[in-house]
Amino acid sequence: MPDVDPLALTASANSSNGSKSSPGLASTGVVWCTERAAEYGLLEDPSKWANLGQGAPQVDDDIEGCFERPHSLNISVNSREYGPTAGIKPLRKAVAELYNAHHRKDKPSKYTWENVCIVPGGRAGLIRIAAVLGNAYLGFFVPDYTAYNEMLSLFRNFAAVPIPLDKKDHYKMHAEKIEDEIKRGTSVIITSNPRNPAGNMVANPELAHIQDLCRDRATLIMDEFYCGYNYTTNCDGAVISAADNIEDVDADDVLIIDGLTKRFRLPGWRVAWIVGPKEFIKAIGSCGSYLDGGTNVPFQEAAVSMLEPTKVRAEMKALQTHFRMKRDYVVGRLEAMGFKLDYTPNSTFYLWLNLEQLPEGINDGLNFFQACLLQKVIVVPGIFFDLNPSRRRDLFDSPCHHYVRVSYGPKMETLKAGLDKIERILKKWHAFEATKLSSSPKQI
Ligand SMILES: Cc1ncc(COP(=O)(O)O)c(C=O)c1O
Repeated sequence: MPDVDPLALTASANSSNGSKSSPGLASTGVVWCTERAAEYGLLEDPSKWANLGQGAPQVDDDIEGCFERPHSLNISVNSREYGPTAGIKPLRKAVAELYNAHHRKDKPSKYTWENVCIVPGGRAGLIRIAAVLGNAYLGFFVPDYTAYNEMLSLFRNFAAVPIPLDKKDHYKMHAEKIEDEIKRGTSVIITSNPRNPAGNMVANPELAHIQDLCRDRATLIMDEFYCGYNYTTNCDGAVISAADNIEDVDADDVLIIDGLTKRFRLPGWRVAWIVGPKEFIKAIGSCGSYLDGGTNVPFQEAAVSMLEPTKVRAEMKALQTHFRMKRDYVVGRLEAMGFKLDYTPNSTFYLWLNLEQLPEGINDGLNFFQACLLQKVIVVPGIFFDLNPSRRRDLFDSPCHHYVRVSYGPKMETLKAGLDKIERILKKWHAFEATKLSSSPKQI
């Protein structure tokens, strides 16, 4: 058993300078994993490692059909000043126009710049949203994005209620679950869609049905950071968004959050946005003045021209083609090793890998993670995605224990190296040998 207490994982972690655990200091799962890898030599020789844990896409300019990212910025004198905490108007306008062009073409109600708040990254945006919520039951799904843990623990204005998702539903939310939640008085629901870590999403008509159920009853916080990574429309560049189904942009309580981080492959820029009803956006814009001070202005200025709708459509097409190829490669390699996947993910760049089929000793996320460290490959133990705000639940029997999240965000060569390493682990543990023998053709 690795030297960790799985029940303490989300709260007790090493500090960022590598010193020993400081109980009470919060750390997200990915940070914890990187720190453990550092103890096994990651920092000394990163080139020997394959990091399939990091939730980031490859950032190079070498994906066929993707536009070249700026290599330098023209920094205006104006941008030396404090920027508005809701973001600069040209970028707010560009985001509104992108959503109108891609999702609201034939709809009478359209977004304007006042429906958009620019925020310094997705996490800052989520914190701002949490800060302005009223007294409510807030439903969140399990498993979901690890940073919701902290976001849902920081504020006392709402009570966070877990909603478990099922393996048989491929970890997708669905209308009956939402109906039950609304019946019991949940009036705010947060979800990633496409989902981190499950790699699945809800699209229309089911998404529209869910939004109809929530209209006038519950605020929907739709985290659409992975919306560009959609493999359900044959890589035509289409993006699935709740913005398609909103009736009145100022009356439907739907907050959409996205940014440059994932689908524009610029995680370091820290430029993201929230789109929603004007009144909500006003409050979210104002709370930036005491929470984070707003997004840096030069990068906002540089982002404006990237959001031209035709350019974005072409970019999404190239992105989907490339990442679907990587998904198929990873799925193919894992299946060839003997894994039976619960389902083929239809979105994001994550695989929620069920380890129950492996021999005892590596058939849970923490032990598999430990075996991976010895081979210099990083994955994220599933337990981190069993969100447990304020550590109210006992995670001993968590269904996420038998999973790891494998990211195919990195470049092909890293994926190849990482899968070779995973294959070596399976060989060492004699995994799938019996299945392979029984399924191999009989010798005559
Ligand atoms: C579902 C989801 N939302 C939001 C974010 C946050 O993005 P950012 O890096 O811009 O804070 C992430 C990052 O991993 C994510 O997975």
